[in-house]
Amino acid sequence: MLFLQLPLLLALFVGGDNEENKNSVPEGFQEPVSFKVICVLSFHNSSWVQSLCSGWLGELQTHGWKNNPGTIIYLWPWSKGNFSNEELMEMQNFFHMSFVRFVQAFYSLAKKWKLEYPFEGQIAKGCELHAGEAPVGFIRTAYQGSDFLSFQNKSWVSSPEGGRRAQILRRLLNLFEGNQETIHKLLSDTCPRFLLGLLDAGKAYLQRQVRPEAWLSPGPSPGPGQLTLVCHVSGFYPKPIWVMWMRGEQEQQGTQRNDILPNADGTSYLRVSLDVEASEASGLSCRVRHSSLGGQDIILHWDHHSSVGWIALAVIVTLVLMAGLAFWLWKHW
Ligand SMILES: *[C@@H]1O[C@H](CO)[C@@H](O)[C@H](O)[C@H]1NC(C)=O
Ligand SMILES: *[C@@H]1O[C@H](CO)[C@@H](O)[C@H](O)[C@H]1NC(C)=O
Ligand SMILES: *[C@@H]1O[C@H](CO)[C@@H](O)[C@H](O)[C@H]1NC(C)=O
Repeated sequence: MLFLQLPLLLALFVGGDNEENKNSVPEGFQEPVSFKVICVLSFHNSSWVQSLCSGWLGELQTHGWKNNPGTIIYLWPWSKGNFSNEELMEMQNFFHMSFVRFVQAFYSLAKKWKLEYPFEGQIAKGCELHAGEAPVGFIRTAYQGSDFLSFQNKSWVSSPEGGRRAQILRRLLNLFEGNQETIHKLLSDTCPRFLLGLLDAGKAYLQRQVRPEAWLSPGPSPGPGQLTLVCHVSGFYPKPIWVMWMRGEQEQQGTQRNDILPNADGTSYLRVSLDVEASEASGLSCRVRHSSLGGQDIILHWDHHSSVGWIALAVIVTLVLMAGLAFWLWKHW
């Protein structure tokens, strides 16, 4: 029954007026924009739980969480958005208390339902803004990696994977009409306010433009007499980018685009390849279009690359020989 106190706690966090305002996603941001808090709880035994909580603006981590005592870690200078210190303390206390109650609730349910240790619970809560629509708030919980219960619109919904347990819990939670209203307001008022404040405070960083670097390399040969031409594009921000293998102005239909991967510094990496007959590689080029380039596409020619490759090899061989000679001289001097 401790679980039922969670929504009550949510009540502490909600502020005053709550009309359903339509939102606009601020200029320069791709919708939807979202903020969420994720916690992973690993229950090892009946007295030991490990937790990892973090706050995310879209795909960027903006907040961490330190246990004992529960403290929000602000990862960026702008991670406080436009909330006052009082509001942030309130938020921190709220998270700490709801977290403690959540763990207690899980323990008591584990006992009641004779759940076997170890097990894992996840909770994600936050909000998402689409231009011209009311904000969408959500809470999703999972047990052992499967969806369990979620909060949609103004009520709790159990997921099929959650089975009977999720249904029982959903019915219990939905009995408390007032609390649902409270959670809804928290998710669709406080959260969007915080999100918009965050976007505004972090604007300079979030809307930065970082130019990609691009280079070519041969990939593993797909077969006899064939070549894989690989175009690497790295270090760009934001993520949307257009990369294509071209012959003159003609896009090559066989162009294969991998998933965009993250670099450690928050920029991205993309690999785009094309399989061709070796005799047809000549005249092909890789073309990169990105918002940071101001309309000046990067164009890399494969012919140029292969000759540059030989020049580079010659330079490297020369350097190695010279280094060897220098080392020999130094030893014998
Ligand atoms: C839970 O695990 C910890 C760490 O392994 C151990 O020290 C503790 O005694 C365990 N408690 C119970 C009740 O098993
Ligand atoms: C939420 O409620 C609105 C209207 O109140 C409805 O149009 C929408 O489909 C509902 N969404 C979900 C996920 O239930
Ligand atoms: C923070 O910014 C948002 C969006 O601009 C605004 O709605 C809100 O009133 C501001 N202040 C606080 C304390 O939320």
